Amino acid sequence: MPLVSMRQLLDEAAKGGYGVGAFNVNDMEQIQAIMEAARETRSPVIIQASRGARQFAQDRYLYHLILAASELYPEIPIAMHQDHGNSFETCKSAIELGFTSVMMDGSLKADGKTPSSFEENVEVTRKVVDFAHERGITVEGEIGVLGGVEDGHGAGGSGLDHITDPDQAVEFAERTGVDALAIAIGTSHGAYKFNKKPDGSVLKMDVLIAIHKRLPNTHLVMHGSSSVPKDLQDIINQYGGKLKETWGVPVEEIQLGIRNGVRKVNVDTDNRLAITGAIRKVLWESPEKFDPRDYMKPAREAMQKVVALRMTQFGQAGHAGDYTPVSIADIAKGYKDGSLSTRPLVAAK
Ligand code: 13P
Repeated sequence: MPLVSMRQLLDEAAKGGYGVGAFNVNDMEQIQAIMEAARETRSPVIIQASRGARQFAQDRYLYHLILAASELYPEIPIAMHQDHGNSFETCKSAIELGFTSVMMDGSLKADGKTPSSFEENVEVTRKVVDFAHERGITVEGEIGVLGGVEDGHGAGGSGLDHITDPDQAVEFAERTGVDALAIAIGTSHGAYKFNKKPDGSVLKMDVLIAIHKRLPNTHLVMHGSSSVPKDLQDIINQYGGKLKETWGVPVEEIQLGIRNGVRKVNVDTDNRLAITGAIRKVLWESPEKFDPRDYMKPAREAMQKVVALRMTQFGQAGHAGDYTPVSIADIAKGYKDGSLSTRPLVAAK
């Protein structure tokens, strides 16, 4: 099956009332792990690459690897997404390369570090939406600023520093016409999200629920959604690693988000932990080994296990065959003739 529009994938998720994991990739083994998990659970998938990943892998490699996945797994709808585009140029280059979806993260300036003004964010996001929709490509925007840093991108600090204001979220969605909206509710990128065991809610779910009430048809996106499971931390530390004690986002909170409009759930760190733990274990137990396949195979299997579990927990499992993909050209026509709306439904306060 050809690569599909993320807009179609998220519209279908909204109809079915489930969330879709968006998993970051840098190399072939990660793509293979996601695709095997998708086949195992019959899930549609979003495969995403950050700017750092595009640089690391040389993005034509990534593009062709994902195309290979679409040939080898014809039953799985795959959206190929640029994670955290920092500028119009980054998003344009992703679209020209063949990505079917881009995130314009205008919550930060183009340096990927300094929080921008609301007007700057609206302006650059709107510009990307105009360029992308003409070509049938989906756009995710961000309002509010996430905590932490991922691949050099991020304002740092706590996820609670710049929580999304629901009124601004409404104005942002109306003025930009984005297909999906990332919001800041206390999550942050990376392994070190919370330094004590969550007792009760760790995220601002009231803010998420307030935004969903005002924008009932807008696809919300949760970044920084790794759960940083203790068992994965333990494997790393058992085999010579030195992770400090840390806690991630409880899956139950993500599931509450999914019941309140979250359709895309970004996960990277959990997979990094699974891969690193598996590699450490092999090299620790068998220091004589030097064939990369001896540790890359268990690493790939460990990531597949995490991804399959998340696909089941987010509810996308079983939905791969629910719909036929609409071509990107027809999606472009839909944006043009208005059959694919870009005006959010706004409910009164
Ligand atoms: P994690 O670091 O929690 O996996 O978040 C990844 C992410 O949000 C990518 O954009």
